Amino acid sequence: MNFIVAVDGPAASGKGTISRAIAARFGFTHLDTGLLYRAVARRVIDGEDPVVVARTLRSRDLERSDLRSVQVSRKASHVAADRRVRNALVGFQRDFAHSRGGAVLDGRDIGTVICPDADCKIFVFASDEVRAERRYLELSQRDPSIDLERVLRDIRDRDARDRGRAIAPLRPAENAVPLDTSQLTIEEASACAASIVDKAIRGDARTA
Ligand code: CDP
Repeated sequence: MNFIVAVDGPAASGKGTISRAIAARFGFTHLDTGLLYRAVARRVIDGEDPVVVARTLRSRDLERSDLRSVQVSRKASHVAADRRVRNALVGFQRDFAHSRGGAVLDGRDIGTVICPDADCKIFVFASDEVRAERRYLELSQRDPSIDLERVLRDIRDRDARDRGRAIAPLRPAENAVPLDTSQLTIEEASACAASIVDKAIRGDARTA
């Protein structure tokens, strides 16, 4: 069976956590597509050309431990607005989506551009304040000097760039199921997502 789950949503909405939970529950492989843009951004910060990097991205670029910083996040949303960068990364994501046994991909344009025919689409969101708080807790473990207001500003700036860009802007696919995680624990959000996927599997004749 090849079953594709597309999970999209704004920064720090819980996409990654939910996608990992879906992958574990259903035995699917998981790709965090944000990591691709972060890895390109990291090498651009180091002085390389974004398009050249996107065309020659290596698996070891995705394994770097410094991809989650505020600086890399910000740069990622700039390189992600470049059509040539995005085009260079499409093939890898689509190949991954069609891996045998089912796949879950999370990002901004999975349900709209990368896998418009995905078997199940979820759009995850939460209030700006909740998302900033979550990201602050994550970042402050590595950098105690980080401040919540700055994290909130960064998330809002990045969302505005991701929503406003001409190519593959962040928006829910028409047939995506919305999932508001503002008031949910990780366990509750994961359970909601699992039930959305479960319904899609049961209702999908293609999986028979
Ligand atoms: O973890 P968080 O939600 O903060 O970000 P991410 O998913 O790692 O993505 C980092 C940046 O990459 C986003 O702000 C987008 O600009 C870009 N991105 C994208 O354009 N398309 C995707 N499918 C995934 C990420």
